[in-house]
Amino acid sequence: MANISEKLTSQLPQGLVDLLREIGETALARGENSYLVGGVVRDAILKRPNHDLDVVIEGKAISLAQQLAETKDWKIRKHPRFGTAKLSWEDFSLDLVTARLETYSRPGALPTVERGTIGDDLARRDFTINAMSVHLNPDSFGELLDPHGGQNDLQHKLVRILHPGSFSDDPTRILRALRYEQRLGFRLEQETERLIRNHPGKLNTVTGERLWRELEMILQEEYPEKTLKRADELGVLQQLHPAVKGDEWLAEKFDQARDLDDKSLSLPSIYLSLLCYRLSNEETESCITRLKMPGWAARALRDTIRIKQSISHLDKADIHPSDIYLNLQCHAPETVMSTATASDSPVIQERLEIYLKKLRYVKPVLSGEDLQNMGIIKGKRVGQVLWALHAARLDKKISNLEEEKTLARELLHTTT
Ligand code: CTP
Repeated sequence: MANISEKLTSQLPQGLVDLLREIGETALARGENSYLVGGVVRDAILKRPNHDLDVVIEGKAISLAQQLAETKDWKIRKHPRFGTAKLSWEDFSLDLVTARLETYSRPGALPTVERGTIGDDLARRDFTINAMSVHLNPDSFGELLDPHGGQNDLQHKLVRILHPGSFSDDPTRILRALRYEQRLGFRLEQETERLIRNHPGKLNTVTGERLWRELEMILQEEYPEKTLKRADELGVLQQLHPAVKGDEWLAEKFDQARDLDDKSLSLPSIYLSLLCYRLSNEETESCITRLKMPGWAARALRDTIRIKQSISHLDKADIHPSDIYLNLQCHAPETVMSTATASDSPVIQERLEIYLKKLRYVKPVLSGEDLQNMGIIKGKRVGQVLWALHAARLDKKISNLEEEKTLARELLHTTT
């Protein structure tokens, strides 16, 4: 049996390795077995960084987690219904789960869960490359348990399901397969690909929430367009919504959005808005409903609809920066960014980018309170003068505090 303890210890921070050894020792003392499982094992073999630790216990995961947390200043979240616990400290977290045996009553349903062995637990998993575990008990620390040929598939760069009924058990695995294939630069194993290509409609049995979670995970990948393109090619993307496309246009726009490189903005939100940019209003609404999108995502898409309807005049020649600001300040910067990327008009693109890079940060120095303290104005006129100062700053008619004060006094003069 292969031992990958060296790979693990060279990949993981020392603190995490110490923790894994402690788990192994504690489990042994309790007469239990503990295993590191899933993505972190796959990535340790591939030498890809991954610090998300998933540990399976042949025994009582929650009680073991409690014992570990007792002597430390860690947070523990228990989920007794699922026999799982999450330990977290600083930037790290660790999931401990009780080994489970799963059976599916019908396609797309959530599985029925019983306690099982590590063998049962690995057999319920999605792909061979995710169905390996590493023993943590001290006498066998680092021993790889690979009953489904995961290591071999890693070597041959293949994403392969464990059994032909896997996609019927859990059709979200169709999207997961494409995500791993594209993230890792792998290929779908032949039979796995055939099952996806011939049965993309299996995704119809999945609830909107679960589909959304998968789409969200795709949008969090480094290059989501690769998975979306592959999903389009295999007829899978159309199952999310018939009008959504994963084509060259989308790939180009995602790339441009990354190039604009504004760390203050959420890329997944920009990607989502670009993915739905070419949909009609009705199509966008039906997509929001089908995928039961959470508030932030629905807001992002509705904001995209609104901005498309309100920016056509932004390509006029005589437009002032303050007009651009007034038009765009009611939209999320992510929406402005996706529109800057998606618009066909170079003039509009340039103006949206100016807004994002400069105009949205321009503010007058004087506040409403300052104006009142200067004894200049009271009541709702404060807001009007503030906007006049703001607009003058945006249009570069004034550039310092003195000029702001002078303009404020002039404005008072004109209104009295
Ligand atoms: N899993 C599964 N079927 C699913 C979801 C998850 O079998 N529909 C299993 C896989 O073995 C996976 C593990 O549960 O490795 C944890 O799931 P997740 O956290 O989504 O995957 P990771 O591999 O930990 O994370 P990633 O691969 O995205 O780095």
